[in-house]
Amino acid sequence: MQLIDHQIRLQLPTYWPRALEPEALNRMDHPTPFLVCDLETVRERYAHLTAALPGVNCYYAVKCNPELELLAAFDQLGSSFEVASCAELQMLQKLGVDPERVLYSNTVKPAAHIAESFAAGLWRYAFDSEGELYKLAQHAPGAAVYVRLRVDDSTSLFPLSRKFGAEAQEARALLLLARSLGLRPYGVTFHVGSQCTTTTAWRQAIAAVGRLLSRLSGDGITLEMLNLGGGFPARYVEDVPSVDQIANTIESALHELLPYRPELLAVEPGRYLVAESAVLVGGVLGREVRAGENWAYLDVGAYNGLMETQQTVNQWRYPLWSSRPDHAAADQVPFTVTGPSCDSSDTTFFGVHLPATLDAGDRLYIGSAGAYTLSYASHFNGFPPPSPVFIGRS
Ligand SMILES: Cc1ncc(COP(=O)(O)O)c(C=O)c1O
Repeated sequence: MQLIDHQIRLQLPTYWPRALEPEALNRMDHPTPFLVCDLETVRERYAHLTAALPGVNCYYAVKCNPELELLAAFDQLGSSFEVASCAELQMLQKLGVDPERVLYSNTVKPAAHIAESFAAGLWRYAFDSEGELYKLAQHAPGAAVYVRLRVDDSTSLFPLSRKFGAEAQEARALLLLARSLGLRPYGVTFHVGSQCTTTTAWRQAIAAVGRLLSRLSGDGITLEMLNLGGGFPARYVEDVPSVDQIANTIESALHELLPYRPELLAVEPGRYLVAESAVLVGGVLGREVRAGENWAYLDVGAYNGLMETQQTVNQWRYPLWSSRPDHAAADQVPFTVTGPSCDSSDTTFFGVHLPATLDAGDRLYIGSAGAYTLSYASHFNGFPPPSPVFIGRS
């Protein structure tokens, strides 16, 4: 795959949306920081994913980017939704989305959120523990429940399995308990970790599902839903498997799935659908040299938009370039890029090559920034999150 080689010159990869090309962004006149999100790209990614996985229902993971305009676009495309809280459900309700079309995949939920979402008409809930089942039986009696399996997520950038998931043997016992509590044993789910970089993760997870289904068959339980979760990777700077490669692996693993394939197949992607659709535009507040090190101070840092740089202990690289025209290697020097707050831990990039002339008033462009940027952003120290700017409306 051709990548933006931000270390040398601006060379756009073939998939880069035209509307997000540097010249187009330079012409946009908005106060920084802002996040330009191209809805045309979102529609294209949705079409690609759903075509690659025919017969699989898509539930967009709201947490990834919960902007109402984006949710409306997914609704228009016919996507269903996955939520982690009642507040996320309420955003969907504002758009007229029927809670029946929504999955609640957070496995440990506030009791009040269970009761409120159930009263609103949501009926399917994830769980991975006994405690949650008792809560669900009390606040959503008779609800359909799906167990989250712990799977190997070691090839993802953002693993989730330490916090979530039950082992296969435990999952079986939990579904039996669910039945005895009057709940409906409905399905099984897993998450291979966000930004998963191998296809084998899905193959192994689906094989683990097969072992669970076999055990449950002996108990007279047939599951109706297999939810393959999220984790589909977006293109940043490193190469990742394509959605087509992942879909092929999933299809062949499902083909081998015994003793049966649940009637409803689901995915709940976030990052793949929205990351590449957006560029974050930050303004340079100041450029300083500290002990020989070049520092660029931006109006956007880890706390108001770039939290994922913290979660990956500075291993995370976005496509990056500036509004300066000097892209030649000879004109570039290494920079440490930091945020606007009074804290040093909002520093986002180390040793990135940017024009030596970079200075206050310039802009920095951070590509593939549509996922987990706005949704993590706070107003720490009074610095606002980037304002979303939508383009490419249909
Ligand atoms: C339960 C659940 N589903 C779906 C997602 C979306 O994952 P991704 O953005 O990696 O596709 C997440 C992300 O954390 C999640 O926790």
